[in-house]
Amino acid sequence: HAVTLHTCFSTGSTNDLVKEVSDGQPGRMTFCLAEHQTSGRGRRGRTWVSPFGSTISMSANWRISEGTASLEGLSLAVGLAVLKALEANGARNLELKWPNDVLWQGKKLSGILLEVHGDPTGECDVIIGIGINIKLSEEQKKGIGQPAVDLYQVCGKAVSRNAVVAQLINTLSHMLEGFSHGGFALYKDQWSEYDAFRGQEVSVEVTGRKEKGLNVGVNEQGGLLIKTETGVKVFNGGEVSLRKS
Ligand code: ATP
Ligand code: BTN
Repeated sequence: HAVTLHTCFSTGSTNDLVKEVSDGQPGRMTFCLAEHQTSGRGRRGRTWVSPFGSTISMSANWRISEGTASLEGLSLAVGLAVLKALEANGARNLELKWPNDVLWQGKKLSGILLEVHGDPTGECDVIIGIGINIKLSEEQKKGIGQPAVDLYQVCGKAVSRNAVVAQLINTLSHMLEGFSHGGFALYKDQWSEYDAFRGQEVSVEVTGRKEKGLNVGVNEQGGLLIKTETGVKVFNGGEVSLRKS
């Protein structure tokens, strides 16, 4: 991919900024990075904490013309690409929590937010938003609603943000190239190696309804497979929350 890089000090959300600044040329990817987001967001309207200089807040605009077979699969594949980029910079013992959180010792290191503009079965822009904690103060960590960790703690030393971003752009471009030909099926086995909850009893909550079962992996579309008393069920979509039970 040809790449345009746009950096700024402060913006609402890089997911919105990348939409504004990208020229929409097919085959060209625009990446936006901000030192600080004033209204960084997570999935389902949640807040993503991204204080000045302490995270990587990056979004990419990927224009596709023929729709994408499975956005869910894409979201998992992006999680894997982020994990690989972090590993290339020295991080070890990382895990993936379906659909796409990157965890270390059960704590959240990175989150991903995919948003689609246009027709997801035809021509559309997929906005890929990635947040990675680089160095947060204890105070900042306490302000987050769940256990969080930063790359400084994971690696036991300071890691260059520039090096991580460069690697991320590389890994992500490669993965998208592969994904556009072979979909998530290409990445399923690798993803499974890092599955934080594989083979464990979990509870999934789908819009208020809770189910318990054994996490038996993911399918080729990126759906979550849970073995319950009434058989193996597939869970799809961003409305599902997964917890260790
Ligand atoms: P799920 O409900 O599927 O288990 P989740 O609890 O991780 O997912 P998401 O909507 O994916 O929730 O992510 C948003 C959440 O991430 C926020 O509610 C907050 O708890 C957490 N969060 C916000 N900022 C950060 C950060 N910088 N580092 C780690 N976690 C964060
Ligand atoms: C989540 O775990 O819920 C997803 C968090 C995604 C955060 C990133 S930071 C860059 C981009 N801009 C946003 O406002 N959100 C994403």
